[in-house]
Amino acid sequence: MIKNFYITTPIYYPSAKPHMGHAYSSIIADFFARFKRIQGYNVFFLTGTDEHGQKIQRAAEKKGMDPKSFCDEISKTFFDLSKTLNLSNDDFIRTTEHRHKKSVEKLWDILEKKNEIYLSKYSGWYSVSDEAFYSEDEIHEIDNIKISKISGSKVEWVEEESFFFKLSQWQKPLLKFYNDNPNFILPESRRNEVISFVKSGLKDLSISRKSFSWGIKVPSNKDHVIYVWLDALTNYLSALNYPDTNDKLYKSYWPATIHLIGKDILRFHAIYWPAFLLAANLPPPKRVYGHGWILSGDEKMSKSKGNILDPIEIINTYGLDPLRYYLLKEVSFGNDGNISQEKLENCINSDLANNYGNLCQRVIGFIEKNLNLNVPENYNFIDEDKKVLDIYKNEFDKLIMSIDNQNINYYLNFIQDQLFAANKYFNDQEPWKKKEDVLRLNTILYVSLELIRKISIMLYPIMPDSSLKALKIFNINNDKININSIKDHETLIKKQSINKISILFKKIEKND
Ligand code: MSP
Repeated sequence: MIKNFYITTPIYYPSAKPHMGHAYSSIIADFFARFKRIQGYNVFFLTGTDEHGQKIQRAAEKKGMDPKSFCDEISKTFFDLSKTLNLSNDDFIRTTEHRHKKSVEKLWDILEKKNEIYLSKYSGWYSVSDEAFYSEDEIHEIDNIKISKISGSKVEWVEEESFFFKLSQWQKPLLKFYNDNPNFILPESRRNEVISFVKSGLKDLSISRKSFSWGIKVPSNKDHVIYVWLDALTNYLSALNYPDTNDKLYKSYWPATIHLIGKDILRFHAIYWPAFLLAANLPPPKRVYGHGWILSGDEKMSKSKGNILDPIEIINTYGLDPLRYYLLKEVSFGNDGNISQEKLENCINSDLANNYGNLCQRVIGFIEKNLNLNVPENYNFIDEDKKVLDIYKNEFDKLIMSIDNQNINYYLNFIQDQLFAANKYFNDQEPWKKKEDVLRLNTILYVSLELIRKISIMLYPIMPDSSLKALKIFNINNDKININSIKDHETLIKKQSINKISILFKKIEKND
């Protein structure tokens, strides 16, 4: 069986510096990428920046900069964020790179040769902020300003010569494609939204602009630049060295396993993108997952609303891993999620410092005092031991399925339950009272070590650094982590020495 897994984040507009919503998309993608790697898959994980179009051109003009230098500067902040977030991405693509331009031009060429493109005139509404065309019934007026009902952003009237993609012809094939691939769009509520939108009829799509120049030129008509979404979506192919379809990367990883995106850009990924690909005779991605928004109060966190929690500030104050854990746990994946500094602090204190950190400290501290930091030399599992150990084996298939269905919360709930169970086990078994019964004492300690190992492996995709710190107890490093090994509970070699562990998470002092 081929075990290749290709996951992408949206490529971010470098129009302003990154915020929590961007960090969220990236952290989730990293979680899946890391999980599939420790499951033995070959993973290709892509992120990057979306640098062309009117939105970026205007942002650069506002700063009095040429668009390329402007992009260089802000794209770097996204690149730096990928390091700060400890993303395990295999590539970082910028749409101003030559490899990308080549790929977009080729895709255009194919669509043109296949007679999927024609020249006409566009007159209608356009939102520069969304880089999207809206029909009359998607617009309303508030205080004399025309606004998109869908995104709430301002629209302006555009009237110019434009190339069109014959999207209307793809209505039926798309509906068939959704029907044949019921898990193409997830979660299901978003799939239903998309299907009803497509059923209501598709108009041909304007795919070039003439009134500005910041973009990739239409190969056959240099007065036009290619519509930024056709340009941007193609990044998923360019990173695999498309148009060289014999390239190893392309062969191994296309079609993508999953494009992870925010719900606001679903239309582009679930309608336009598969239509372009089907028209070019290329296979569409296997899945598009539209996650919800990170909210602050009841509103989407966004620069224009001024309600940003800066990921860098949060990381500087609390550390990266707590933020990663908190975002994954707090947001019911697929839905919008409200986050706050206070809830983050509570989460650090309860789940991380009290539950996970404390378990590691107590068990290793006890083994240091009583077994001189060695794995016990004998053990004999009784029912109470098997109960806490076997659950990993019994639940394993469900856990894998939860990941493959992007049911992150199931996975996190399982970890939380097992952390609770492991602490309870150690308390209830009272090893400090069993010093006379050496076999029982050793068994309790062996079980406790195994539980720490299993939980730490499960935590690896969520909090890679903290997990690796904990796994150092057993000298398990990055390359040796294997999720399948949580099924097993006799992995520790008797009498082998283990390592001490420093404090994993500091408790946050609260005044109240
Ligand atoms: N450049 C396009 C994507 C092109 S992909 C071929 C774009 N960029 S963006 O920078 O505006 O947004 C990137 C992603 O961040 C989107 O998936 C968007 O949903 C996500 N988020 C932006 N704000 C967000 C929140 N407040 N919460 C969660 N994610 C949100 O769109």
